[in-house]
Amino acid sequence: MPSLAYHDTAWAGGYHRHMTDTKTEPATGSRSGGSTSTTADTRPYSPGLEGVIGAESAIGLVDGANGRLLYRGYPIGELVENGTYAAVADLLWTGEWHPDAGLAPEPVPGPVLTALRELPRDASPMDALRTAVSVWGAMQRLAFPPTPEDARALTAFSPSALAAFGRLRQGLEPVQPDRSLSLAGAFLQQLNGERPDAAAAKALEAYFIVAGEHGLNASTFTARVITATRSDLASAVCGAIGALKGPLHGGAPSEVVSQLHEIGSPERAEAWIKDTLDRGERLMGFGHRVYRAYDPRAAALRKVAEGMAGMADWLSLAVKVEDIALRVLAERHPDRVLKTNVEYYTAAVLQGVGLPPELYPATFGLARHAGWTAHAIEQAGANRLIRPDMRYTGPEERHLPD
Ligand code: ACO
Repeated sequence: MPSLAYHDTAWAGGYHRHMTDTKTEPATGSRSGGSTSTTADTRPYSPGLEGVIGAESAIGLVDGANGRLLYRGYPIGELVENGTYAAVADLLWTGEWHPDAGLAPEPVPGPVLTALRELPRDASPMDALRTAVSVWGAMQRLAFPPTPEDARALTAFSPSALAAFGRLRQGLEPVQPDRSLSLAGAFLQQLNGERPDAAAAKALEAYFIVAGEHGLNASTFTARVITATRSDLASAVCGAIGALKGPLHGGAPSEVVSQLHEIGSPERAEAWIKDTLDRGERLMGFGHRVYRAYDPRAAALRKVAEGMAGMADWLSLAVKVEDIALRVLAERHPDRVLKTNVEYYTAAVLQGVGLPPELYPATFGLARHAGWTAHAIEQAGANRLIRPDMRYTGPEERHLPD
């Protein structure tokens, strides 16, 4: 079984490394993780669960070594070129390719709008999105197990809610979604109060597709853990948004934008990059924990950015800086493959469609709704409570003084 073979490799490479690294020796423990025993628990511990297989899934394959990302077997590049977010989300939920699947944007219910109006204008958009999903969930009374219909309803609602908050934080009134538009197009329309440029809507749609699913990352794992308790889909997505909010996960394409602004022109790029690395800092938009090849999402988004009108100067700067950065990183790190990651061209696309940088992380969350909800449905379909063991490192049994 391939998963077993991989598990064995991870065990040998990951667990043993951490076993020898770890400084925390167990006080006592038992194999059940429940009661204490006098036998030391010698099972390996992997900090961050690195190298541990935490689920079996047929949804997406992240093949870091070969730079491949497949949704239900289909390469991400093909899906971006030929699919819509509606069809791709439907593929993730059902496993079937229905190119004409639709997903009309849903209006924001009154109680959600009331909650959003009560938030401070400078609240984090990610907090606003999580709040909106929570209120929506309280109204829906969703049951276990989650269904593709639940997933559709939630995925179609959230962009309208974030757009509503995007307007409220500027002192503007929310607008109703134009249901003839795609989800990404209606998100732009509800943010800006006017029908979006078709090319911008298409570019954002491409971003929604590439950001839709990415294996057992922290937020997806969170959604699966919550679902495994037989909780509801809105709770799972609230938790996932909470996990995505952390800077180690939600990414920072806005930092790529600042980086390119600081560089300013291709002539300054090499010196700026070398100075930055000399200071021990990292280049934003390069390197990845999993990919050891060019991130296929970056490749797909670069193509989209290249087709965007009005992006010529900014994109040509991005492309030239990328070439120089890749050369310098290869010189500095000959033993480690450091390639462009998805954040680099996400920055190009999101800036190109005119999204304010403060909304980038929450927009990532909107796109990831498809993956989170697909994983929740899959988890519920073969459910087992997720409850790993813990190694106790506290004191041995002792007693209060008489
Ligand atoms: N710039 C310069 N050097 C880098 C970079 C980078 N972007 N990324 C890794 N390195 C170097 C490290 O300095 C380290 O060098 P050393 O061994 O001499 O100390 C070596 O490569 C390995 O670094 P790690 O931190 O072990 O690599 P890891 O796989 O854990 O890091 C990460 C992945 C966090 C994405 C990292 O590459 C990084 O910080 N990149 C910049 C931030 C960024 O672009 N984040 C978005 C990632 S995409 C996403 O999350 C959706």
